[in-house]
Amino acid sequence: MRSLRGGATPSPCTARRPLSCPAMGVTEAGWSQAFARRTRGAGAAELNTILAGSPPGVLSLAGGFPNPATFPTTVLDEIMMRLVRDDAGVALQYAPVEGIPSFRSYLADRQEQTQGRRPGPSELMVTSGGMECIALACQSLVDPGDAVAVEAPTYLGALMAFARYEAEVHGIAMDADGLVVEALEERLAAGLRPKLLYVIPEYQNPTGRTLSLERRHALVELCRRHGVLIFEDVAYREISFDGGALPSLWSLGPDVVLQAGTFSKLFAPGVRLGWAAGPADVIAELAAAKQTTDQCSGGLGQRLVEEYGRAGHFEANLPAARELYASHWRAVERAFERHMPEGCAWSEPAGGFFTWLRLPDGLDALALRSAAVEGGVAYVPGAPFYPGDGGRDEIRLAFSYLSEDELGVAVERLAAVIRG
Ligand SMILES: Cc1ncc(COP(=O)(O)O)c(C=O)c1O
Repeated sequence: MRSLRGGATPSPCTARRPLSCPAMGVTEAGWSQAFARRTRGAGAAELNTILAGSPPGVLSLAGGFPNPATFPTTVLDEIMMRLVRDDAGVALQYAPVEGIPSFRSYLADRQEQTQGRRPGPSELMVTSGGMECIALACQSLVDPGDAVAVEAPTYLGALMAFARYEAEVHGIAMDADGLVVEALEERLAAGLRPKLLYVIPEYQNPTGRTLSLERRHALVELCRRHGVLIFEDVAYREISFDGGALPSLWSLGPDVVLQAGTFSKLFAPGVRLGWAAGPADVIAELAAAKQTTDQCSGGLGQRLVEEYGRAGHFEANLPAARELYASHWRAVERAFERHMPEGCAWSEPAGGFFTWLRLPDGLDALALRSAAVEGGVAYVPGAPFYPGDGGRDEIRLAFSYLSEDELGVAVERLAAVIRG
């Protein structure tokens, strides 16, 4: 499969090699000969497995899907009806590339409220989710062969995007406090010159770890000194279990940080809506790139989130969502303590959807996967989350989607498979 949304069908007019033209007969290899060199990046298979779901009877800890109980359906039907009735000229029309002005103004207010800094009009734009922002950043900043630095491990979707834009990806070590800033400093001193440093400071996907306050300051200072653009992904930032938040990197260094945000976890992934905040020249280039992707994010979603947010529904509903995810994590933690054998270790997230489990010595997470599925539980092995080696004995577990009872059963099944 070529695209996450299932299948790009190359048209005969765009296929580059006459060999693959239907008029001359499709070759046995299908259309693959026509694919661009950039399609050869690794990782798609793993993400496709996650998105494909699990066989019946298997409890999946694999996909980091928001829990549908957090979707604000009851208020949305009224807002949606009102928008279609009274505001179709805006909500159903093409929107400006950077976003509908009233929604951008709401976004700026929201950045100020949640991150303590208000972006200027040229420092903010609307995107079609966090993933589009990653692709726009790649399109704008990454030439083939450019170095990109990432936390090791990191979000698979970002790794896939960097591979597709033919970046040379360098993993920087993490520990329980997030990215090890001294490790990055050593690499920079040794000559690494990344175009971007991609970081997920809160409740990271896949590890659940959070970058400490001290390291946030040190990281911004280091990157400013070396002229490295920090690409901060705040996908889970507002899903803290206790409602608290450390300062975002963007609020600490708006001159050296490009922030990708998303409403997928706060609202619903179905709206495909997010934002980019950063230096004005970078945002202008991202907007130029968006002209060649979707030209604008859906107006209906922008107006929907704006109306929802202006009416105070985020403040009203987020505490319940946070409590739901916190309670899910507690269920997993209880089950870990009860069932996991000696030699297992796990991260202790303070928010988000994920925990990162280390298996006892000698166990291989990839090899164990089919036994796990036979035993009725699915997970994602750690290796694909690393740009290089690593993760053989690690696995990502998502606790966002299953019910607490199911989570308990899933962990018990997993523990039985690990014990062998
Ligand atoms: C860290 C991170 N960034 C970005 C995304 C993409 O989110 P969106 O749905 O906004 O494209 C995800 C989705 O799982 C994620 O985990």
